[in-house]
Amino acid sequence: MNELDTLVDIAKALFAQCDTPADLENAKAQFLGKSGHITVMMKGLASLDVALKKTQGAAINVAKQAIESALQTRRDQLADAQLQTQLKAQALDVTLPGRHRATGGLHPVSLTLERIEQIFGSMGFEVAQGPEIETDWFNFTALNTPEDHPARSMHDTFYVEGGYLLRTHTSPMQIRHAVQHVKQYKNQLDAGQAMPEIRVIAPGRTYRVDSDATHSPMFHQCEGLWIGENVSFKDLKVVFTDFCRTFFESDDLVLRFRPSFFPFTEPSAEIDIQFSSGPLAGKWLEVAGSGQVHPNVVRNMGLDPERYIGFAFGMGPDRLTMLRYGVNDLRLFFDGDIRFLSQFQ
Ligand code: DAH
Repeated sequence: MNELDTLVDIAKALFAQCDTPADLENAKAQFLGKSGHITVMMKGLASLDVALKKTQGAAINVAKQAIESALQTRRDQLADAQLQTQLKAQALDVTLPGRHRATGGLHPVSLTLERIEQIFGSMGFEVAQGPEIETDWFNFTALNTPEDHPARSMHDTFYVEGGYLLRTHTSPMQIRHAVQHVKQYKNQLDAGQAMPEIRVIAPGRTYRVDSDATHSPMFHQCEGLWIGENVSFKDLKVVFTDFCRTFFESDDLVLRFRPSFFPFTEPSAEIDIQFSSGPLAGKWLEVAGSGQVHPNVVRNMGLDPERYIGFAFGMGPDRLTMLRYGVNDLRLFFDGDIRFLSQFQ
């Protein structure tokens, strides 16, 4: 074996030992670099005579090409190895169970509130929102419930600093909304013209110091108010019957108005409903308080009770949800147990 073949073998062996591209480029320099073996040999040709120069030159070139090709082969191997390592590191185990994103949904009480809004909306009622931290005036006084009125003891109220309280019902929204409405149509009213009727519902959170299977310190109410020049109890009966039948999808559901007392209505009534079929058939179930808005309340709305009349009602969306889905403990709604809540999706 001549000297050049040996050089090629040494180069191949050295390249094979290189594990990184950087090592390989260093090894290359020993043969093909400025002072590498091949380069030095090429320079040495200068001192030879023409014939020898030709044969030696050709032989060196063959060796040079063999080293270059060995170099390229090793470069390709290293690049391939690097790619394999990278692929392995990013490998997907397709046998692993899939990661799925749980689908959320609305809380059952929210479903009820949406349903209430949709049904009353279809009957021309606006939806109003109001503050949960209220003043004494809106929660009690404006609703014909003065400071020493015995009806105030009906609510065990959460009082907060600064003379505020957590609203015990959504009824303050009757005043808030009506006052806004009256302000909006002030010019018409001042000119003795009729204003558009007030037709509104106000759903939201309410608070009382109360906690058992059917009472929660935070619960929901939905207020309703319809005021005009010619709105009567008959309208309340029609509207509320229609609402209950649509809400419970039961055309033969019947209503009963049971005389009651609320300071802000006169006369007042509790509204009971009765199903003709299903597990609750034949039982009277209380769903709302209602009545003709008291003249003092109409006055506090900024309207003349001699001209404007109407009715109000207040219902419990939590209770409606319990009745609709057959839930018997109110606390389940607020425990946040996903096993319970996911049943309503
Ligand atoms: N605010 C009453 C309550 O919390 C419910 C109620 C009764 C609302 C009669 C009304 C009404 O608007 O007319 O017990």
